[in-house]
Amino acid sequence: MCGIVGYVGPRPSQDILLAGLARLEYRGYDSAGIAVIDEQGDLGMRKKAGKLAMLRDSLAEHPLAAGTTGIGHTRWATHGGPTDVNAHPHLADDDKLAVIHNGIIENFNVLRDELISEGVTFRSETDTEVAAALLGREYRASGDLASAFRAVVNRLEGAFTLLAMHEDQPGVVVGARRNSPLVIGLGEGENFLGSDVAAFVEHTRKALAIGQDQMVTITPSSVEVTDFDGNPVEAQPFDVSWDAAAAEKGGWPSFMAKEVAEQPDAVANTIRGRVQGDQVVIPELDGLDELFIGIDRVIITACGTASYAALVGKYAIEQWARVPVDVELAHEFRYRDPVIGDKTLVISISQSGETMDTLMAVKYARERGARTLSVCNTQGATIPRESDAVVYTHAGPEVAVASTKAFSAQITALLLLGLHMGRVRGSLSDSAASDVAELQALPEKIAQVLAEEQEHVAQLAGWMADTRSVLFLGRHVGYPIALEGALKLKEISYIHAEGFAAGELKHGPIALIEPGQPVFVIVPSPRHSALVHSKVVSNIQEIRARGARVIVIAEEGDAAVLPFADEVIRIPLTGAMFEPVLAVVPLQIFAMALATAKGLDVDQPRNLAKSVTVE
Ligand code: G6P
Repeated sequence: MCGIVGYVGPRPSQDILLAGLARLEYRGYDSAGIAVIDEQGDLGMRKKAGKLAMLRDSLAEHPLAAGTTGIGHTRWATHGGPTDVNAHPHLADDDKLAVIHNGIIENFNVLRDELISEGVTFRSETDTEVAAALLGREYRASGDLASAFRAVVNRLEGAFTLLAMHEDQPGVVVGARRNSPLVIGLGEGENFLGSDVAAFVEHTRKALAIGQDQMVTITPSSVEVTDFDGNPVEAQPFDVSWDAAAAEKGGWPSFMAKEVAEQPDAVANTIRGRVQGDQVVIPELDGLDELFIGIDRVIITACGTASYAALVGKYAIEQWARVPVDVELAHEFRYRDPVIGDKTLVISISQSGETMDTLMAVKYARERGARTLSVCNTQGATIPRESDAVVYTHAGPEVAVASTKAFSAQITALLLLGLHMGRVRGSLSDSAASDVAELQALPEKIAQVLAEEQEHVAQLAGWMADTRSVLFLGRHVGYPIALEGALKLKEISYIHAEGFAAGELKHGPIALIEPGQPVFVIVPSPRHSALVHSKVVSNIQEIRARGARVIVIAEEGDAAVLPFADEVIRIPLTGAMFEPVLAVVPLQIFAMALATAKGLDVDQPRNLAKSVTVE
């Protein structure tokens, strides 16, 4: 939920921290702060409510004394509103010590009462300040930052990434994590800590992943990782596969616009290396054939946009691998008593790999004996580390809060997985080779939709800037796309939007239709099922008869929709399972253009964070 960066090395840390925070701002953006130990060994701190620019302006006006050890934080409020005082860092030990935190300390009330009874006073409403005060107390007792920090993390319950530094120990930053992300960046004579590699990728692409319940001490020349008892642990090294330029806007008006446009590449990168001849072979899943043959059930679990990718995955895996698939919202999954066992494969989908609800669902599934596989976009993230296997989407960094390229890459990964499992289980039909060909043609067809429909859809959105509600209908794999189209609009344009299964219309939602009501309808190809196509055309007639303004997304050449549509958006011909990846593109453009027409910030919508690391 919050972004964290730490630096020790020879360079002035302030610019490094601010640049790192800029790349992490997607994680939260209601306040930001940094602390630096200056050359005199004094700790300076500045924090501001609002976006990072507020902090930057304040530092430009009244700079902190320069120093080469520092920590920085961008916040998404949980305990206490987004104010200057509640922003991080939080100080303790006569302001000689600074702490930043991501997550929620569940026992903070007990700890706070304990500290108050010892005479500690608190300035903020945050759980973090409690951790800072506790660290102050422990440091005064031991005089050693690492051991004091270890004593603190052992007292905390809940989820946390914590970083701390003390002015008595310049050149040292300590960090710890439980159910919340933290990675180490390895430089030459300098080292970094970050919520993810974006925090330091412009300085180094060499990284170390820290495991659950581990802590780290960095100095300019050393990195020491231990468990919470102080036993040394070997951290897992990895190389970051993208460079800093990939996380820049690069001339685009917004990250979202850039990421929508990057979809052909994102999808091509997901497919790359996973097709051999006319078959899908995912090398990372080598050795899992027995598992795929032995399972009798698949549950896909995810949140938000990823849960709609999961729904498409259900259709694809059932069709190709002939195994029953259920889709469960991760936050519902573990609070009931689901039937799972060692023949259940639980697939989790998460762009960030850090969504707490999804992480907890994966852990729960494992505890119940299920096998786990994750589809993830972020290397070194927690969910893949907690899973038996991972299929990375390789879509590159996604910065805009509203997911676009990660979504099309997630669907692509699930299509690959369906074809891979189908091959292993021997359940693919004779037409599988043509499906593989369709899969490989997807990037080019997405590019075609972008080239041919971008302007048309943006124009449409411009006309509809005053619209108060938009409905989306779809059937079969068009249904999840209707849900995603509605979610995109809600997320970034704050317009009421609902997605429905088109067949459900007559069971209630049709009551919403009044003259002028805009309705998007995703029409499946008549080539795949004349029956399903004709049903959707009937649904269009039903709403049109009640005055709806119908915007149809249909494949090229589908003339049956013309008499009933106010607008037609065309997508190229493709296989039935592949339509979602093409049909979602105009809906992303529509949401983005409408939000832009309303003058809204499409990258950082209100109240949302990209990575929700609280339950
Ligand atoms: C948040 C974001 C959504 C995203 C969801 C799942 O709610 O605002 O855009 O779809 O998390 O994120 P994940 O990283 O697990 O895919």
